[in-house]
Amino acid sequence: MPYVRELQAKIRELADRKNAIILAHNYQRSEIQEIADYVGESLYLAKKATEADTELVIFCGVDFMAETAALLNPDKRIVLPEKASTCPMAAQLPASLVKEARRRNPGAAVVLYVNTLAEAKAEADVICTSGNAIEVIRSLEADTVVFGPDRNLCWHVARHVPGKCIIPVPEAGYCYVHKLFSLEDMLKLKEEIGPDAKLLVHPECDPDLQLKADLVGSTGQMYRFVRESRAGSFIIATEVGLVERVRRELPDKKAIPAKSDAICAEMKLITLEKVLRALEEEGPVVKIPRDVAEKAGQAVERMFELTGS
Ligand code: 13P
Ligand code: SF4
Repeated sequence: MPYVRELQAKIRELADRKNAIILAHNYQRSEIQEIADYVGESLYLAKKATEADTELVIFCGVDFMAETAALLNPDKRIVLPEKASTCPMAAQLPASLVKEARRRNPGAAVVLYVNTLAEAKAEADVICTSGNAIEVIRSLEADTVVFGPDRNLCWHVARHVPGKCIIPVPEAGYCYVHKLFSLEDMLKLKEEIGPDAKLLVHPECDPDLQLKADLVGSTGQMYRFVRESRAGSFIIATEVGLVERVRRELPDKKAIPAKSDAICAEMKLITLEKVLRALEEEGPVVKIPRDVAEKAGQAVERMFELTGS
């Protein structure tokens, strides 16, 4: 048996024996997605961790995702196979900046993207994802909203909720992967493929791309759009892991990466070897101080209340 298949079989056997669940984000390596119990966007995975009748959860993603799963499942052992899998965008918004923004904008609601660390989440009124940010912010009574850390997601919300004043914090937070896409390249690709090709753009991409998109949405929304659309070709502006998943699971659809080297290096730090070790050692476990976890958990729960999910 080739090495990869052998490792995959070992991981599955051990996970089943330990009654552990393996969760993988859409940006994980294909060989990890293949052996996961569930693959999807971060909040979907956190919910799967809640539903699973298991103590041990191996979370293949980045720090804030595993933390969110831990916030929602304080009694489970949430393991992130590689501690260095940290999201650089989440790191752009320390809790101190959120506190300062709140001080400067009394009366404003503080809404943070799920791509933040637990300490920052603990300073928020409510959390949102790229898929429900519009719904969450629209449902708030406050006319002024402090929002962070992604500036492009902030633009996306402001475009669709024009009645509110949305203040970005920090001023220009960004994801280095989604900054790689250019409108020019995407339109060139569309010209090559044909006018029927649909353009799918993550809201972390720049506004000029969003304005030309057939869908602006989270990775889960992009996946469902491809699955349900009658179109045959899709140019996808997000990390290539999602494109690989679409090609593997929806082989009748033609998925084209808007940029083939749009790779989140931190996501790719997790390997099959590390997943096996994490299962064997049942660590490293995600730990969040109790007071932080309590407040951050409330902000996440508030999102569920506002979106009815
Ligand atoms: P999704 O929540 O859309 O899966 O995106 C997560 C992410 O990290 C985007 O860069
Ligand atoms: Fe963070 Fe960007 Fe990687 Fe998503 S793609 S985990 S926002 S660095």
